[in-house]
Amino acid sequence: MKLLVTGGAGFIGSNFIRYWLTNHPDDQIINYDLLTYAGNLENLADIAGNPNYSFVHADICDLTSVNRAMSTVDTVVHFAAESHVDRSITDPSSFVRTNVLGTQILLEAALKNDVKRFHHVSTDEVFGALSLETSEKFKESTNYNPRSPYSASKAGSDHLVRAYGVTYGLPITITNCSNNFGPYMFPEKFIPLAITNVLEGKKIPVYGDGLYVRDWLYVDDHCRAIDIVLQKGKVGETYLVGGMTELYPNIEIARKILKLLDKDESFIEFVKDRPGHDRKYDIDWTKIKTELGWEPKFSFDEWLEKTVLWYKRNEQWWKNIKSGEYKQYYTKQYGK
Ligand SMILES: NC(=O)c1ccc[n+]([C@@H]2O[C@H](COP(=O)([O-])OP(=O)(O)OC[C@H]3O[C@@H](n4cnc5c(N)ncnc54)[C@H](O)[C@@H]3O)[C@@H](O)[C@H]2O)c1
Repeated sequence: MKLLVTGGAGFIGSNFIRYWLTNHPDDQIINYDLLTYAGNLENLADIAGNPNYSFVHADICDLTSVNRAMSTVDTVVHFAAESHVDRSITDPSSFVRTNVLGTQILLEAALKNDVKRFHHVSTDEVFGALSLETSEKFKESTNYNPRSPYSASKAGSDHLVRAYGVTYGLPITITNCSNNFGPYMFPEKFIPLAITNVLEGKKIPVYGDGLYVRDWLYVDDHCRAIDIVLQKGKVGETYLVGGMTELYPNIEIARKILKLLDKDESFIEFVKDRPGHDRKYDIDWTKIKTELGWEPKFSFDEWLEKTVLWYKRNEQWWKNIKSGEYKQYYTKQYGK
């Protein structure tokens, strides 16, 4: 197979490229990435010399570059996006441009170049929010109800992908997954932010009352799910991918991280809530389990321990990120 991976220098995309070249060493991958603040080629330093890997530095909104990159591949795996909810609240337009327009340009090029599969990576946030009390979960049949500019732009991209499948017969698949965590996750997101702050002797900022609940998915489990969908998934179908059998509120996750790092709860600091903060996301991943035989490999606690260890061992990686542009963003978001 020859794959075009968009957003391969980001968190999940870089893990996916490493996963794919380890498990399919004869396949070729083109990593197509604009290297925004979230793109970091250091994530792939160990892969850069692999003869089956190449990098294209370009924008998914640039149709000419996209067409050129797509002309030699049979499969597209589309991760590239503006991905952080907080940033979408302060700058929605870049989310619409990349997530909606960028996806449509990729779809157009995929049609023109007759790709055999266009796989779109999306989020459970398109389904809106659940209340804390309900045991209801998101399913493939749940109506869309996005509530932030990020999730609205991802919802728009999902609709376009499906529309290109139905209208033009483009062979598409979609996965909507829950919050990922694991190595190389940009430390603006909750779990790596919490771990790296504590390693720096700082507090963990917890929004509002801390009772926000998410399903968490280890990034390698997610990459394996995409692999299975590419190999065995039905064209035109959507699969939800989640990682939990038991849910924990953010405050409990902060406590688990503190325990793994031998610190007490004085390292928790409650901060002003995010506007329109979705209370709970929970995913029913029965379809991918029963139809394709996928399930997470380990429990959340086991994966969290491995993640903490990775951040402890890779201090230089996240310290490089936490200087520079990120510093200004952090002060604006959480104060000093
Ligand atoms: N991180 C999560 O927990 C999570 C959960 C559900 C779904 N997703 C989805 O998975 C995908 C990957 O998420 P992530 O966390 O790895 O994101 P990320 O922000 O870490 O990486 C995004 C990558 O896309 C690149 N990019 C951005 N705009 C681009 C453009 N115009 N052209 C080319 N490249 C561009 C960036 O440089 C970066 O490398 C996204 O589509 C996101 O919506 C993420």
